[in-house]
Amino acid sequence: MLQNPADDAPRGEAKVSPTLLEFDGVSQTYLSRDGELVPAVRSVSCSVQSGEFISVLGPSGCGKTTLMMMASGLLKPTSGRVIYKGRELTETGSDFGIVFQTPVLFPWRTVQQNIELPGEVRGVPAGKRSQRARELLDLVGLKDFGQRMPYELSGGMQQRASIARALALEPSLLLMDEPFGALDAMTREQMNLELQRLSIQLKTTIVFITHSIAEAAFLSDRIIVMSQRPSRVLDIVKIDIPRPRDIDLMASDEFGAYVNDLRRLLDRSGEPS
Ligand SMILES: Nc1ncnc2c1ncn2[C@@H]1O[C@H](COP(=O)(O)OP(=O)(O)OP(=O)(O)O)[C@@H](O)[C@H]1O
Ligand SMILES: [Mg+2]
Repeated sequence: MLQNPADDAPRGEAKVSPTLLEFDGVSQTYLSRDGELVPAVRSVSCSVQSGEFISVLGPSGCGKTTLMMMASGLLKPTSGRVIYKGRELTETGSDFGIVFQTPVLFPWRTVQQNIELPGEVRGVPAGKRSQRARELLDLVGLKDFGQRMPYELSGGMQQRASIARALALEPSLLLMDEPFGALDAMTREQMNLELQRLSIQLKTTIVFITHSIAEAAFLSDRIIVMSQRPSRVLDIVKIDIPRPRDIDLMASDEFGAYVNDLRRLLDRSGEPS
């Protein structure tokens, strides 16, 4: 039941998928409070295929969150176009779920009530949204925690609840902005494995923002490597390793070679274009 009907081929299999999201010459310049223009993103063109797991990797402050906000339609590009399902995004819709670095759960609601919230806002009938919430709790390994309050959960569990909430309306696109950045190394590794399992199972298209080269290489079909601000696409690296991938992969030469390539690219990220 918890499947994206738009895509029925297993992740990792060679297939031609339709383009879900496209950046066409997208730039973003902010106006700072003291009136200065801050170019954050410069002429970015790239696309995300349906069912793909794609990471955006780049130095701090380069414009990754800006890119994600534009992908959601919450922020309009200063120039260029963001095209979603073949149509230019002119406003934000509800066909995406979003997960932030720190879990943003409402502290006065139980975990299940937090997951039901998007359904509530959209007027989904109570029975249907509570069934969906229970399925999602199960999916993210929180089956017995629906009636707990967020403060009773660990950081990793709270982030799982946030992922479940982001999936509540069965979005075609899941946007994740450094979702595991605040977790300790072991929990992060665990969450990477769980996210991989979830993405194989659901086949939802995922745009995943991270600072971590290893995390990006472990999870992604492709990685968009960004330069320093104003960020542009330095390269797009395809990770040709079959799934499911296990943690031992990280110790392999094959994985090490990808990590080295990515590191070299990032080392160059501050050089003038
Ligand atoms: N609302 C804003 N007004 C002015 N400048 C902004 C605004 N939002 C972001 N910026 C600037 O745009 C640049 C890119 O910001 P953004 O948050 O997209 O970077 P990031 O890659 O997500 O950084 P991090 O890795 O630290 O999360 C930064 O220099 C930031 O200071
Ligand atoms: Mg950011």
